[in-house]
Amino acid sequence: MGILFFLAGFAAAMIFGWVVFPELLYSQKTQPVNFSHALPDHQGSGCEDCHSFREDGTFTGIPRLEKCAECHESPLTESPDEKVLVEEYIQNEREIPWLVYAYQPDNVYFSHAPHKVKGVECVQCHRDVSNESKNPPYRENLLTGYSKSTMKMDVCEKCHAEQGASNSCGICHK
Ligand code: HEC
Ligand code: HEC
Ligand code: HEC
Ligand code: HEC
Ligand code: HEC
Repeated sequence: MGILFFLAGFAAAMIFGWVVFPELLYSQKTQPVNFSHALPDHQGSGCEDCHSFREDGTFTGIPRLEKCAECHESPLTESPDEKVLVEEYIQNEREIPWLVYAYQPDNVYFSHAPHKVKGVECVQCHRDVSNESKNPPYRENLLTGYSKSTMKMDVCEKCHAEQGASNSCGICHK
């Protein structure tokens, strides 16, 4: 009997420690406004319509509210998300506090520029957003405050090794 109780307790502890506890470490958030990359009206003249590179090579990132206001000065649909976009952000001239799934911890240095020059594609580092009509949940680590879906160091290093880019520590940690 004793051994059975021990095993049951052991199994429960293992499940808590390996399955439940890691899940409890994350809080789930949703984007302030759902943005569908899949809408034909949002595909514009391509990704560069919203995410482009400046002349000096630096990356513009997520478009500012004025981009959305080009078309959403007043509602075009019955969508509750669009109502929030127009009434809370555009009419109040308040930038949308987008959650960035890919943001790295502060001790990591990253720039899109050298990757663009070498022709590394967006989907080699990000999920494929082109057919995504609903933003996935954003999972935040409660201890560190960082996003769960950042690229891990071994993934950066693997590609750097394959493509002949440097893997010395000071390249990514300044
Ligand atoms: C009309 C503007 C617009 C166009 C065009 C657009 N995007 Fe976006 N993109 C956004 C906005 C707004 C966000 C922030 C919300 C979100 O995560 O969807 C975003 C987020 C992203 C992110 C997520 C970054 C992160 O880690 O949080 C990726 C990757 C991305 N876009 C890639 C693309 C690609 C690839 C294309 C072309 C197929 C594209 N986008 C076209 C507006 C646009
Ligand atoms: C080039 C014009 C254009 C731009 C720029 C644009 N949209 Fe839209 N958007 C539309 C049109 C047209 C619709 C509705 C028609 C449809 O459903 O295809 C729409 C629909 C929406 C909807 C409602 C549909 C849904 O998914 O719930 C939301 C929310 C939205 N857009 C958010 C945004 C945000 C945020 C931005 C800025 C990052 C933006 N849009 C930029 C044209 C645009
Ligand atoms: C080599 C990997 C890599 C490639 C290729 C890449 N990204 Fe990123 N992207 C990242 C990382 C890492 C971050 C987070 C940067 C940070 O922590 O400051 C990021 C951040 C972003 C963001 C968030 C906003 C911001 O200000 O940077 C958007 C939007 C984005 N990427 C879109 C794209 C698009 C569109 C492409 C293709 C043109 C692309 N990325 C190519 C790794 C990559
Ligand atoms: C899919 C391949 C790939 C991935 C993934 C990748 N990189 Fe790179 N990275 C490259 C290439 C190719 C270069 C260009 C090397 C060159 O110019 O010789 C580069 C260059 C860089 C540079 C500039 C190096 C220099 O010499 O100045 C930095 C910084 C960098 N990467 C950081 C990162 C970080 C941080 C990550 C992970 C979050 C990452 N990279 C993920 C392919 C990749
Ligand atoms: C190509 C980019 C790259 C290089 C080269 C690199 N790192 Fe990192 N490192 C990262 C990224 C991205 C993270 C954050 C994500 C993570 O924790 O995996 C990180 C996280 C870390 C952390 C935080 C602890 C952890 O594992 O979460 C330490 C410590 C660290 N790196 C040390 C080093 C040392 C020492 C070197 C040289 C031997 C090095 N790194 C080289 C990209 C790099």
